[in-house]
Amino acid sequence: MMNKMFLKNRILLRLIILLIISILLLFFTGCEFYKENKDYKKIDYVIGVSQANMLEAWRLVSTKEIKEEAEKYTNIRLIITDATSNPEKQKKDINKLLDYGIDLLIVSPCDVKEMTPVIRKVYHKIPVIVMDRAVEGFDYTLYIGPDNEQIGKQAGESVLNLLTNRISTVLELCGSQNSKSSIDRSKGFQSIISEQSGIDILQYRIETATRDDTEDMVLEIGEQLNNVDVIFAHNDYMARGAYLALQQLGMEIPIIGIDGFTGENNGISMVQNKRIAGTITCPTGGKEAIQFAMDILNNVSGVPKQIILRSHSITEDNVDEYVESLDQPLIVSDHIIDVGYSQLGTESAWRLANTASIKEAAKDAGINLIFEDANQSQEKQVEAIRNFIKLKVDVIVISPVVDYGWETVLQEAKVAGIPVLLSDRKINVEDDDLFVTFIGAEFLEEGRRAMHWIADNVKSNNESINIIELQGTTGASPAIDRKKGFEEILSQYPQYQIVYSEVGDFTYQGGKKIIEEYLQENEWSIDVIFAHNDDMALGAIEALEENGLMPGIDVKIVSVDGTKEAFKAMKEGKLNCSVECSPLLGPQLMKAVKDLVSGKELPLRIITDEKVFTQKDAKGLMKSRKY
Ligand code: AHR
Repeated sequence: MMNKMFLKNRILLRLIILLIISILLLFFTGCEFYKENKDYKKIDYVIGVSQANMLEAWRLVSTKEIKEEAEKYTNIRLIITDATSNPEKQKKDINKLLDYGIDLLIVSPCDVKEMTPVIRKVYHKIPVIVMDRAVEGFDYTLYIGPDNEQIGKQAGESVLNLLTNRISTVLELCGSQNSKSSIDRSKGFQSIISEQSGIDILQYRIETATRDDTEDMVLEIGEQLNNVDVIFAHNDYMARGAYLALQQLGMEIPIIGIDGFTGENNGISMVQNKRIAGTITCPTGGKEAIQFAMDILNNVSGVPKQIILRSHSITEDNVDEYVESLDQPLIVSDHIIDVGYSQLGTESAWRLANTASIKEAAKDAGINLIFEDANQSQEKQVEAIRNFIKLKVDVIVISPVVDYGWETVLQEAKVAGIPVLLSDRKINVEDDDLFVTFIGAEFLEEGRRAMHWIADNVKSNNESINIIELQGTTGASPAIDRKKGFEEILSQYPQYQIVYSEVGDFTYQGGKKIIEEYLQENEWSIDVIFAHNDDMALGAIEALEENGLMPGIDVKIVSVDGTKEAFKAMKEGKLNCSVECSPLLGPQLMKAVKDLVSGKELPLRIITDEKVFTQKDAKGLMKSRKY
C-alpha cells in the first residue's frame, strides 16, 4: 500500500517537474522566437524632440532630417511633439517627455523668453540640445543653428550682383516682426546694401511668412513694382509667392530667397528652373542634432557649446555643382593625414595647455602633426604656413597671433588647394572663403561675463568704481573682443569706469609691470582690476603684494581663462573671479580635420563650452581642473 502511494507520488512529482520544464522551455524559446520575428531591438536611449510647430515648411524639413538620421541608430527611440507655436503647450509637451523618461531633449523653442526657464530646469536634469532659436543665457548642453545675420549679408551680396543700375530699388519681403531670424536677416541684408549709395529698399512685412500671403501682398503692391529691380524674400516659400504674383502680372523681376531645400517647388529646383535668381541655404541642423545627441549620450569628449551652421549662396551658375556635392559619398583616406599647425607662442599657462591638448589629440587620432611655434611673430607664422604649403600637408591650422595681415598667405594656401582651419583666435579678412571654419571661444561673451560679475559683486554706493584694465596683445582677437564685450556691459553702468588701461601681452611679467608702473605714478584708488587673462592677473597680484596691498580684498580682480593657477589664487582669496576660456581644443580640432578630409561639410563656427568661476567654486573644483 505504502509502496503504491510512494509510486503514485513519484509519478506525480515527475509530471510536475516535466510540466515546469516544458513551461520554462516554452517561455525561453518563445522569447527567442519573439526576438527573431519581431526584429527585437535593444533601446539604450530615448530622445525627446519638442518642435516649436509643424506648420512652417522649414520645421517639417528639420523634423524629417532628425527622423532620417535617428533611423541610422538601432538603439535609440524618438518621441516627437508639436507645440503648435504655443509656449504653454510646449511646456506641457516637455513635461510629458520628461515623464516618459527621456535621456536627452532636443528642443526648438517657440518663444525665447517663455521657454528659457523651462529649458534651464530640464538642463539641470538631462542634456538639452537647443535648435534654431536660441534661449537666453547658456543653460543648455549644445546650441545648433544658422547665423541669420550672415545669411542676410549673403543675400545682400547676391542682390548686389544682380543690380545693373547705380540707382536701384530692392523690394524686401520680411517675415513676422516677432521673428528673430527675420530681424537678423534684415539687419545683415541692410548692412551690405547700405554700403552702396543709390539703392532704395522698399520693405513689406508678411506676418505669416507664407507663399499665399506673399503672393497676395505682391499683387497688391501694384504700380510700385515697376520701379523694383530685385526682390529679396526672407524665405523660399515667400520667394515662390512673389514669383507666382509676377507671373500673373506678366512681369519679370529677379528674386533671391532663403532656405535652399531640394525637392519640387523648393528653392533649389526654383533656381534650376530659373524661377528665382538665387537662394541662400539655411540648414536645419536636424542631422547634426542627432549626431551630437549620440556623442553627448555616449560621453564623447570635446562636444562644443555652439555649432553655427554654414550657408551657401546658390545661383544658376553653381546650382548643379551644389546638388552634386550633396550626394557625394564620404572619402576614406588611404594615408595618414598630415596637419601643419602654426602655434603663436608660449606666452601663458593657457597656451601651454592648448599646445598639449593639440599634440595629444593628434596622437590619439593617428594624425601626423607638424607643429611650429612662432614665438609671437606673425612673420614666423607666415613662414611656417609657406613651409606647410611646400610640404603639401592635407590641412593647415593656425592659431593667429593678430587678426590682420593674413590675406596674401591664405590666398597662397587656397591656390595650393590646402584648406585652412582657425584654432583659438579669429582673423579679420574680407573673403571668408580663405578659411574653412573657426574653432574656439566666444571672446566677446567672456568680456561681457567679466563685467557682469563686477556689476553684480562690486557695488558702487553712488561713488564711482575705478577699474584698471590689463589688455592682451594688441591686435589679437581675444584682446579686441574681450575689451569690446566688457565695454558693452560697462556702458550700462555709468558709475563704473576704466581709469587706466595698458597692454600686458597676456604674460605674467606684462601684468606685473603695468601695476608696478601705475603704483609708481599714482595714489592707489582702484576698486577693480580686469585682466584679459589669468597670467596677467597673477603678475598683478604679485605686484600688489610687493607694495603692501591685499589682492582680492583691497582690490577685486577678475580675469579670463580658468587655469589651475587662477583656481589656486581664488582659493587663497587673491583672485575673485575667472571667466573660463578652454584651451582644450585638441579633440574638437582633430575631429574637424578628419571630417574635412573625409569630405564632410564643416560648420561655420564651432564654439567651446565655458563657465564663470568664483572663490566659492575654487576649493571644490580645483582638483578636477584639467589645465
Ligand atoms: O587666445 C586665447 C588667449 O591667449 C588666452 O586667454 C590667453 O591666456 C592666451 O595667451
